[in-house]
Amino acid sequence: MHNTHMTSRSKPDDMPARRPEPVADALGRPLHDLRISLLDQCNFRCPYCMPEAEFHSDYEFLKRQQRLTYDEIVRVAAGASALGVSKLRLTGGEPLLDKNICELIERIAVLPGVKDLALTTNGMLLSPLAEKLVVAGLDRVTVSLDSIDKDIFRGMSGGRGNVDQVLAGIKAAGAAGLGPIKINVVVQKGVNDHTILDLLEYFRGTGTIVRMIEFMDVGNRNGWRMDQVVSSRSSLQQIQKRWPLRPIGRSYPGEVARRYEYVDGGGEIGFISSVTEPFCGDCSRARLSADGMLYTCLFANQGTDLREPLRGGADDDELRDILSSTWLQRADRYSELRRPDIAEHHVLKKVEMYRIGG
Ligand code: GTP
Ligand code: 5AD
Ligand code: SF4
Ligand code: SF4
Repeated sequence: MHNTHMTSRSKPDDMPARRPEPVADALGRPLHDLRISLLDQCNFRCPYCMPEAEFHSDYEFLKRQQRLTYDEIVRVAAGASALGVSKLRLTGGEPLLDKNICELIERIAVLPGVKDLALTTNGMLLSPLAEKLVVAGLDRVTVSLDSIDKDIFRGMSGGRGNVDQVLAGIKAAGAAGLGPIKINVVVQKGVNDHTILDLLEYFRGTGTIVRMIEFMDVGNRNGWRMDQVVSSRSSLQQIQKRWPLRPIGRSYPGEVARRYEYVDGGGEIGFISSVTEPFCGDCSRARLSADGMLYTCLFANQGTDLREPLRGGADDDELRDILSSTWLQRADRYSELRRPDIAEHHVLKKVEMYRIGG
């Protein structure tokens, strides 16, 4: 289980470890993961997520009072852990834009049942924060990095990213003990697919796990077309020509990445094939947006509002009932039903990536 980096934490005395009451959805899938988006803002403008033309200086992001407070987030996290969630991930937008994030991490890390607390970031602000994040109780980070070619990276971040700064952030995170670090590479045909070998070469032998992600039709803004997708199979073939790989097993049930290792001992890499090989069958993830909507699928077109009951006086039992009834009704399996050939499929209004953080 070297991949999940489960840590045992000491819980404060006033928090007795309550036995979770697991829930299963309409397709028998348990709830294991909660991904929490802290804010809808980002310091990048990746064209596939927050294109500059739309997210310009007067775009209206959520206002402070529309976003859940830390107290509210902690209540949701505690309710979810009582229903069996043991893996949590903080995302955004860019979660490190939240200046007080360490305070939230401290509070979530000690919740009973939380075994793995991770964060997804674009890495630009990571270097000076890495040590503080570990001290607060974060277990590990995943860094989105689509290319290590300076110009291509800059373009893919909407002209805002600096690859050296991100690489320094990754190094600092490794040194601080936020590993095993994972790198997410969204592979797009003709955009960065010709640079993946350089990226892999850079990380081979460092213990950092690179994952190739098939470009997905998340939200309604990214202009997704099937012909922009580089299948995992073709990435794998390209990589195998340079460095032979062999498959290795899953590190935990419901893992989205197919894991491989370099035959020569260069370490692990992963492939996330949501388009060509959907993995809805054991999807155990719920997503909370910064304004308190709970989504049971990355491609959801509606969610459950938790902010209203949170602010309307719901107690912990009521909150848990809302979470469990939402999960019990869940039948999502978007990627398995996706039909790239049917135009109507793309007309459905879906939640945008920058609101739920992947
Ligand atoms: P760990 O294995 O815990 O490190 O996390 P993870 O594999 O869930 O990783 P991460 O959150 O980094 O997800 C990587 C990418 O996989 C996301 O950015 C999405 O693009 C994709 N992904 C993650 N979860 C889902 C999911 O439930 N459905 C689909 N379709 N894609 C997902
Ligand atoms: N397809 C696949 N992955 C995506 N991400 C953002 N948009 C897409 C998409 N359309 C990834 C980011 C980041 C994570 C949060 O989601 O690169 O790693
Ligand atoms: Fe920001 Fe990540 Fe979206 Fe890029 S993909 S704009 S880094 S939230
Ligand atoms: Fe889960 Fe929805 Fe992704 Fe399928 S498409 S794996 S149900 S989040």
